[in-house]
Amino acid sequence: MKLLDIYAKMKGDLDAIEGKLARSVTSDHVLLSDASTHLLKAGGKRIRPLFVLLSGKFGSYELDVLERVAVPLELIHMASLVHDDVIDNAETRRGQLTVKSKWDNRIAMYTGDYIYGKALAIVTELENPQIHQILSKAMVQMCIGEMEQIRDFFNTKQSIRNYLLRIRRKTALLIAISCQLGAIASGADRRAANSLYRFGYNVGMAFQIRDDLLDLLGTEKQIGKPPGSDIRQGNITLPILLAMQEPAKADELQDEINKIQASNGAGETKRALNIIRKSAGIGIAEEMATRYMNKAIDALSGLPNITAKKNLTDIAYFVAKRNY
Ligand code: IPE
Ligand code: IPE
Ligand code: MG
Ligand code: MG
Repeated sequence: MKLLDIYAKMKGDLDAIEGKLARSVTSDHVLLSDASTHLLKAGGKRIRPLFVLLSGKFGSYELDVLERVAVPLELIHMASLVHDDVIDNAETRRGQLTVKSKWDNRIAMYTGDYIYGKALAIVTELENPQIHQILSKAMVQMCIGEMEQIRDFFNTKQSIRNYLLRIRRKTALLIAISCQLGAIASGADRRAANSLYRFGYNVGMAFQIRDDLLDLLGTEKQIGKPPGSDIRQGNITLPILLAMQEPAKADELQDEINKIQASNGAGETKRALNIIRKSAGIGIAEEMATRYMNKAIDALSGLPNITAKKNLTDIAYFVAKRNY
């Protein structure tokens, strides 16, 4: 089944989550409401809530309970984006101005914090300390991942392992726990929750590798921001690291990256992009995304053959090959 058909099938429940998301960030403080609603209305795939709902099908599915996990997870994702756009100095997100550029960095700081606070307010309605612990640990890991990215800006000598550890923290864990918490909140057994965690983790790794490829290969319309944003900001992603391993490309690419770094965000990325696009790094990164996708699908093998399992498999395929 295509991704859009899966969304269509879950539309009623996803709409309920959308409504709760909108209400959750609406408050009597106009600026905080406006800035949060601006990002919410800009769209987004809502893939984390979808993972929660589908994972919830492996237990006793109750929307009332699952939305108290799905909404906080999407809010945590949103808050991390508001802060990430400050760090990455990004002008656009989801095809709209970022909070930091429509307002400013100070407002983005508190908008992010405000959205995090709203996430906690909702998840703590569930009296289940295990859920709270899993969520807070993932939030800590995301902070570490983003800090590691700041540390590693423009470092072309970092290892592939370093990159993989970083994306594990900044992206894969939140997707892993979206699946795990969907299972736990619906009372699925421990083995199912563990399998879904492993599924989510591997999908999350493929998701970020694909995100990093799209930044190099996608069009502005597809990705909602100008291509080449990562390299302009100094975020040295997997295809770039792989291109640096090609002796014929390394020196020229390093020169271009040095120029970008020296220009403080105003430099031309075209030449660097051309070198990377023509390198074997693109194909190798695509293969790595496919490998994670296959691991994700393998993780589902012990689960009962319900429709949700088929849907998760289809989403894994989409994630590894997606163009948006
Ligand atoms: C973007 O995530 C940031 C990453 C973790 C790669 P998404 O691609 O899920 O963003 P939206 O929510 O659809 O905009
Ligand atoms: C997204 O990371 C933010 C987090 C995962 C916390 P990126 O900086 O790689 O993603 P985009 O390209 O801004 O969406
Ligand atoms: Mg970033
Ligand atoms: Mg970013």
